[in-house]
Formats: sequence, structure tokens, C-alpha cells
Amino acid sequence: MTQRKDDRLWGGRFERPPNAHFDAFQRSFAFDRRLLPYEIAVDRAWAKALEPIGIFTATEVKQTLAVLDKISDRAKTDSAWVDSFGANAEDVHHFVEKALVEELGPLGWKLHTGRSRNELVATDFRLLVIDAAAEMQRGLEALLNAFLSQAKAHLSVPMAGMTHMQHAQPILLSHFLLAHAEAFTRDITRLQHAKESADACPMGSGALAGNSFAIDRHAIARELGFSRITANSLDAVSDRDFALDYLFALTGIATHLSRLAEDFVIFASQEFSYVILPDEFSTGSSLMPQKKNPDAWELMRGKTGRISGALLGLLTTLKGLPTSYQRDLQEDKEALFAAREQVTDMIAVATGAVAATKFNAERLKSAASNPALLATEAADYLVHKGIPFRPAHDIVGKVLREAEKQNILWTALPLEGLKKISPVFEIDFAKSLSVEAALAAKKVPGGTAPERVRDAIANLERQLNKKATKTGAKP
Ligand code: ARG
Repeated sequence: MTQRKDDRLWGGRFERPPNAHFDAFQRSFAFDRRLLPYEIAVDRAWAKALEPIGIFTATEVKQTLAVLDKISDRAKTDSAWVDSFGANAEDVHHFVEKALVEELGPLGWKLHTGRSRNELVATDFRLLVIDAAAEMQRGLEALLNAFLSQAKAHLSVPMAGMTHMQHAQPILLSHFLLAHAEAFTRDITRLQHAKESADACPMGSGALAGNSFAIDRHAIARELGFSRITANSLDAVSDRDFALDYLFALTGIATHLSRLAEDFVIFASQEFSYVILPDEFSTGSSLMPQKKNPDAWELMRGKTGRISGALLGLLTTLKGLPTSYQRDLQEDKEALFAAREQVTDMIAVATGAVAATKFNAERLKSAASNPALLATEAADYLVHKGIPFRPAHDIVGKVLREAEKQNILWTALPLEGLKKISPVFEIDFAKSLSVEAALAAKKVPGGTAPERVRDAIANLERQLNKKATKTGAKP
């Protein structure tokens, strides 16, 4: 009764073995072996849940758990064994069953009672996404700390804020750095959402219809650290929204890193010279001895394509699938694993590069002192004197034109000249026209006034300290 003609999970109704090419094509162990720690955790929970419903005796549970531990330990230390033993495994689920049977004989075949790989793979994958998202949140916290230190160190450095890549209004360099920090803070929230979306345990959903052995789904979920169980067995084996949510969060991170990269590549160009690229995160040219290239940032910008590609790939795979488990769903893993690795590396490199970047305060300040950046302040001055904004805008436009005609800086026009354009200009006008005054005026919450930027720094610091105590990480 316990003789089997081969060790496949499904050979009984087949007369002939699978075509060799097709067999290699359908196997997934080469990549889903990364799910092994989760598969074993789920197996442990399942083994325990089989006892109260009379499938396993207490001794059988103990024996099974002992062997699962042994498999887990061996897999951690002996990757050659995983390679060789796994060479004949169809997938990670088959791998563990084979290893159990090798140690336990027929008892190893009992663990799969009442369950399906369809729910197993969904459960393993959810557990992996939860861990991956948490790990990436910690990576982003380190990146935020790098921005925080740089923002604190450069509170006195103004720069020329730009729109359309044209000089617009003065801002603080710290304000620019904290703008990037805001974007990555949102990414942490998006990862949190991915974690919550993955946080429901499918075990007990069976292949699609549920479980006939009155298995305690809540106990299994609890044991695995899930806060809830999935609500519908058919949905549970079909649903990959949690993977989409995770990939969407990764796409956000990569897109933000790419934008940061673009800023720094431009800032490092000779024309800008706002930043000095750190040697540790730059490369040279094989031909031109003088070159120091921003390759760290360029690669980050370049790799972003693969990350959004992974999201689009999974969306495309899912589109048009009938409800229920389909083998297409096996295609959900590889690109996600690869994207996770890439983004983890990207965040680590960005963290190092942001921390090591030196800012050229002189260049930044001198760009910020371009009087053109104060034109809006001049219009605001007229508004404070009672002129409606549109005519005030026109008047300043005329002032700029007049200065251009005389070929002088517009801030060098004497008061009499200004009064000819508008009698509203007074002696206090010159005083209102400084980078410091322009910065100080932006004191709304979220503005670039030094006191507001100091608030933002304190806020970020508080947030990071809170997160660090939550995750037990060092601030
Ligand atoms: N290797 C499969 C996957 O990754 C596991 C589930 C297989 N289920 C099945 N009925 N063929 O999706």
C-alpha cells in the first residue's frame, strides 16, 4: 500500500512520465527554494494542527517536527545538499516532502493530509513578502538617517530652488534634502500597506474549496504570526494582490531613487558643481584621466526600469487569469525576488553615497544670490503696499526690463528709477531684497524658512527614533 512507482507528488493517474524538456520547464525549485524557511514554518504549524483532528498522534507530531528541524538546519548549512537533493524536486513543497519521507518513511506522506500546494505557496509567499517589506523599511530608515544628518549639517546653506530647471526662488539645501526624505517616508508607508495586505493566512483553503478535516485555521495563522485568516478559499488561492502591493512599493522606492540620482548627476556636472562626488561611490574613465563619473547614481537610475518592469510583468501575468489557482501563478516569484534584491542594494548604495557626498557650499550660495531669484519677493513687497498681485507682477516685470535695457542687475536700479515705474517703491524696498529675507518669509508650515526646516528636522528625528524603538534597531 505504501509502495509508490516514483516519488512525484501526482504520478498515480499517468501512464507515461513527462517529456524531459517539459519537466525541466515546469519545475520551480531553482527559484522557489528561497521559500524553504517559510515552507518549513508552515509545515510545523500544519503538523501541530493535524493532532487535534486525529490525523497525527502526539508522537507523530514530535517525530515530524524533529525531522523538519533537521531539514531546516541542514538546509542552512549545507547548500550542496539542497542542490543535489533538490535536483529531483519539482518545487519547494516536493523538496520537503521528499526529505521527510527519506527520514520518516511512510509517516512523511501524512503531513500533506487535507492541504494543497496552492494554499502552501500562497502562504509561503505572503510570509516572504511580510519579511521582505519589513527588511526594506529598515533599509529606508537608514537612508532617512543619512538625509537627516546632511540636512542638520547644512542648515545655513541656501541654494537656488528651481522649477523647469530654471532658477526660481531661494531655498535651503536642507529643505531640498528633506524633500527627498519625505518621498522615502511615504515609501515606508507603502511597504506597511504591502505588509498588511500580505497579513492573512490562506492555510485551510485547500486547493480551492476549503478543508474537510475541521483544521483550526486560526491556530495555524496565530502560530505563523498572521493577524488574520483569508476570508474565501477560492480567493485565497487566486489572490496575488499582496505581491502587487509590494512591487508597487518597490517601484515607488526605485522611482524616488532615480529622481534623487538624476538630481545628483546634474549637481555633479561641471556646470553646476553643487556636489563633490565621493571617491568611494564614483568610477573613473579608462581613457580620460581627469574623469570622476557618478556611476552609482546612474546605475540606480538605470536599474529602476527593471523594478517597474517586475510590477508590470506580474500585472500582465494576472490579467485575464480565471479565478482560482492557475499554474501561471508560479510566474509570480522570480521577478519579485530579483526586484527585492536590486532595491535592497540600491537603498544601501544610496545610503552610503548620500552620507559621503560633500556639498559645495560656496557654489550653492553663489547660485542662490542670483538677484533674479528675488523677483517674486519684489512683487510680494508691492502686494504688502496694497497693490493687487497681477499689477505688482507687471511692475516687477517692467523693472526687470529696465535693468536689462541699462545692462545692470535689477537690484542695482536706484530708488528714483524704481519710483518712475511705480511710486509705491520706498526706501525699505532694498532691505526686503535679500536671500535671508526671502527664506525667512517662507515661514508657513512646510516652507523653507530656517525655523520651519528646523521643525522638519526635529519631526523626522522623532519619527526615526519612534521607528527605531519599534523595530529594536539602533537610532
Ligand atoms: N510551484 C507552484 C507555484 O509556484 C506550486 C503550486 C503548484 N500547484 C499545482 N497545483 N500545480 O505556484
